[in-house]
Amino acid sequence: MNKKGLRDIQVNGKKVLVRCDFNVPLDNDGNITDDIRIKSAMPTINHLLEHGASVILMSHLGRPKGEPKKQYSLAPVARKLEELIRKQVKFADYDDVINSKVYKMAGELSSGEIMLLQNTRFRKEEKKNNLEFAEELASLADIFVNDAFGTAHRAHASNVGVCKFLPSAVGFLVEKEIEVMGKALTSAEKPFTAILGGAKVSDKIGVIKNLMEIADNIIIGGGMAYTFLKAQGLNIGTSLLEADKIDLALEILREAKERNINFLLPIDIVIAKEFKNDTEFYTSDINNIPDDYMGLDIGEKTRELFTNVISKSKTIIWNGPMGVFEMNNFAKGTNAVAKSIADNTNVNSIIGGGDSAAAVKKAGLADKMTHISTGGGASLEFFEGKSLPGIEAIDDNN
Ligand code: 3PG
Repeated sequence: MNKKGLRDIQVNGKKVLVRCDFNVPLDNDGNITDDIRIKSAMPTINHLLEHGASVILMSHLGRPKGEPKKQYSLAPVARKLEELIRKQVKFADYDDVINSKVYKMAGELSSGEIMLLQNTRFRKEEKKNNLEFAEELASLADIFVNDAFGTAHRAHASNVGVCKFLPSAVGFLVEKEIEVMGKALTSAEKPFTAILGGAKVSDKIGVIKNLMEIADNIIIGGGMAYTFLKAQGLNIGTSLLEADKIDLALEILREAKERNINFLLPIDIVIAKEFKNDTEFYTSDINNIPDDYMGLDIGEKTRELFTNVISKSKTIIWNGPMGVFEMNNFAKGTNAVAKSIADNTNVNSIIGGGDSAAAVKKAGLADKMTHISTGGGASLEFFEGKSLPGIEAIDDNN
């Protein structure tokens, strides 16, 4: 990556504005249920503090639609940060994010001190990449550092606009994500296996097309598999279907064949009449799905088929669960995939964020993966081969 990084900038005595992705899941009482995104920002924050910077952190949380909403306050994040950094984090708890009091707080921040702004999406200008708002944010500091990989696919004021007004660099998290995932795309050890799941084909078309350039095996599970099965003329009952993507599914199947890609679809599936955990279910051969049943997970034979390929792979990219893993009765397929990746000690395994990251964590196998991305949408766009605006906007290193 030819972007400036933390080692390329002098931060001693400087005020550094850092965009993080603290968009963390919260329970109904406002407790953080997964703090990996906060922990992943620690190397950058610690580096800046240790090198004499004063640090001003900012992030969005959730989708408050451009206005202040209490449930999206960054207050729980401020508390968690204090716990992790073991020093005071001054929280600028102002709904308008920036005002004269915030400027004063930032102005009084000494070397080695740290503050956090309120949720940038409390301002409608944020998502519009409004340059006035970006300039207001930028005028708090001398340097901008973007460490929000999870938001890199968005072009907003706090990650893109702000670069117009300050010298900029990427943080250690962004650097690591790009390096590890970039290597998997450009110099992967073979056999290379892409495992794609999740509900919709339409979310994954770009990824499938891009990965067809490099993959030896493409494994398809989850809700998106049924559109492919339907395209092959099978009855899929009431399973998820994107009827307008059937032609595209056929085109992908044709291209995979032409390219000699081992394109694997489920051969048996776990089916039920209702979309809930506590319902009757059984495993059906793919040719025998009754009209009033839907597929909710891959079956035993499919698990064997998929895990056999996984066990022989040297590089794996995984994005999207194999079934409705949030429901225990339909989590076996996703867990089997997670376990077989974990059991393969020779594999470079890259887990896209979002659901597959959650599944790996739920299975207790997170520490067995080579890399779990902190970006859901961002890692997907990266695998599609798209350039990410949050990273593009950073100063080049020349
Ligand atoms: C994410 O969780 O994927 C990022 O924080 C981006 O959030 P968004 O999809 O609401 O822009």
